[in-house]
Amino acid sequence: MSNNIVVAIDGYSSCGKSTLAKALAKKLHFIFVDSGAMYRAVTLYFIRNNVDLHNHDQIAAALKDIHLNFHSRDYQTHITLNDEEVSAEIRLMPVSDNVSAVSAIKEVRVEMVKQQQRMGRSKNIVMDGRDIGTVVFPNAQVKLFMTADPKIRAERRFKELSPQNPQITMEEVFENLAHRDYADTTREESPLTRADDAIILDNTDLTPEEQLQFALDKIEPFLKK
Ligand code: DC
Repeated sequence: MSNNIVVAIDGYSSCGKSTLAKALAKKLHFIFVDSGAMYRAVTLYFIRNNVDLHNHDQIAAALKDIHLNFHSRDYQTHITLNDEEVSAEIRLMPVSDNVSAVSAIKEVRVEMVKQQQRMGRSKNIVMDGRDIGTVVFPNAQVKLFMTADPKIRAERRFKELSPQNPQITMEEVFENLAHRDYADTTREESPLTRADDAIILDNTDLTPEEQLQFALDKIEPFLKK
């Protein structure tokens, strides 16, 4: 049996999951995987190829045609879709507006989970998403469930998005987040929910450094074993 360490970080959209996951991976020299980027890249492919979200044959054919790869440079997410770098494009609104619908499709989830589990089989890994502690790695040594005030989350996302999306408004960002929270928590397939053994991290009033320290304290006991 492999004794690699898995840190699972789940939570609502724009809670800073990826920021914390990246900082942890950097500090501990773990592999970082942003599982949301995978669902976003699949969504981009579906948009570009007009995949009908109700047509199971089209979805199955598309999934066979999609090859995703992560390239880690400075612990930033660089993801390729069939060898094309799509890291910037997957953050734009067309993808954000459609990713909840795509990530609710069972066939999509089965394929992504399979790939994610393969990544965490033998290496120390920090993965963030919505179902990492519940479905992908139910035996993860450390599970964090992140949350924060919705207004603060919208402000953070707005700051992140506005350089690439100059037309965007705060209202739009807030609506998009509220919609995704609702869709992610109420969908039938692997809804966002806290694993019983996940530790809640509400970062509304915490600095990135405080969040990092909080998480390191939880992981530390496993590093010594
Ligand atoms: O983390 P993010 O906002 O980039 O995720 C984009 C979407 O993907 C989000 O609306 C929910 C979905 N997602 C998911 O269903 N399961 C995951 N493990 C990660 C993301």
